[in-house]
Amino acid sequence: MEIKQNISLKQHNTFGLDVYSGLYTEINHYNDINDILFNDVFRNSERLIIGGGSNILFTRNFTGIVVKMNIKGINIIEDNDRYVVIKANAGEEWDKFVEFAVKNNFSGLENLSYIPGNVGSAPIQNIGAFGSEVKDTIHSVEIIDINTGKQSVLSNKECMFGYRDSIFKRELKDKFIITSVYFTLSKIFKPNICYSALKNELAQSEIDNPEINLIRDAVIRVRKSKLPDPNELGNAGSFFKNPMVSREKYEILKKEYPDIKGFDNASSNEVKLAAAWLIETCGWKGYRIGDAGVHKKQSLVLVNYNNARGIDILNLAKEIQNSVYQKFNVEIEMEVNVI
Ligand code: FAD
Ligand code: EPU
Repeated sequence: MEIKQNISLKQHNTFGLDVYSGLYTEINHYNDINDILFNDVFRNSERLIIGGGSNILFTRNFTGIVVKMNIKGINIIEDNDRYVVIKANAGEEWDKFVEFAVKNNFSGLENLSYIPGNVGSAPIQNIGAFGSEVKDTIHSVEIIDINTGKQSVLSNKECMFGYRDSIFKRELKDKFIITSVYFTLSKIFKPNICYSALKNELAQSEIDNPEINLIRDAVIRVRKSKLPDPNELGNAGSFFKNPMVSREKYEILKKEYPDIKGFDNASSNEVKLAAAWLIETCGWKGYRIGDAGVHKKQSLVLVNYNNARGIDILNLAKEIQNSVYQKFNVEIEMEVNVI
């Protein structure tokens, strides 16, 4: 394990921000973990664990140590007629893991195809897309306490998953390293095509009884048509979460704004509003100030046209939050981790 000094993080964050880390190292093997945890330099520095850097906004150089989790490996540890349990290590690229599952007809992850980042980060914000959330496939999460080096395994329930939320964003934030995730994937395929953008894509392609690989392909087509490729335009996906409001508030807003878009779940007293619609209705879609901007096709995505600084993007985000609040009296929370 080598600790490097003064390393550019441009290749390690999908906003493409050219910030520097005072110290930087990569964990490639389990043995490296104890080496780093009990290293004096690590213990005395501000620390940041990263995966693919696709949900981070750096607003400054990081003076402490950045540790990239890179441990690879996918192993089937239980296999029967109905399901498999798979252990995937934190450093596996998320979409390579989904591709592996789909190729083997292990279902549950196909709607989560093509999300950037690594396996170890997936539980942190309970990644979701097209009507699926990763929590529905997570069996348990293996973690190591950064202070003691003690390993433990959290059950699905103990992870306290919610919409873009888990214990790792709250009580355990910055206290643990996720080393691997156990998934239970079904061998009995039941397509989940409730999400309208996916349903429409399958209908347009005249696919009536989609196989698992066709779902994956359709998800990738929709994603490519809407979301910017970070290799071409820096971004971190949705910058904000979709806000939850009471049904009462939703009805009031709907009277004033009949086109308002909400994901209405009849069994719940809350409605999830489409933040993209709120932001677009405030006039931000396609807005650009310097090199920071709001994506032309998806107003929930903030972009770096080239030379924006993290602080420029953060200032734009705050202006957007204020204007949405002024117009709709709704607070939109940032999804991205701001450093
Ligand atoms: P990073 O950005 O590296 O880290 C995210 C957070 O987790 C940081 O706080 C970091 O400190 C912490 N962390 C990372 N690894 C570990 C670890 N092993 N142990 C402890 N802490 C750790 N998200 C969705 O949910 N749905 C989407 O549809 C979606 N689409 C996206 C599309 C684009 C184009 C982009 C750029 C992003 C999108 N995202 C989406 C957001 C992002 O892909 C996910 O949040 C992803 O899980 C982040 O993974 P990462 O490895 O890049 O995490
Ligand atoms: N919409 C607008 N204006 C826009 C974009 C969208 O009005 O500029 C409307 C759409 O017409 C639609 C609604 O907003 O009615 C929802 O749009 P979309 O299906 O694109 O989904 P989203 O709510 O904007 C969420 C996730 C994405 C995920 C997609 C697909 C959050 C914060 N975002 O976006 O996740 O990929 O659904 O399931 O929940 C991420 O978290 O980084 C992310 C990209």
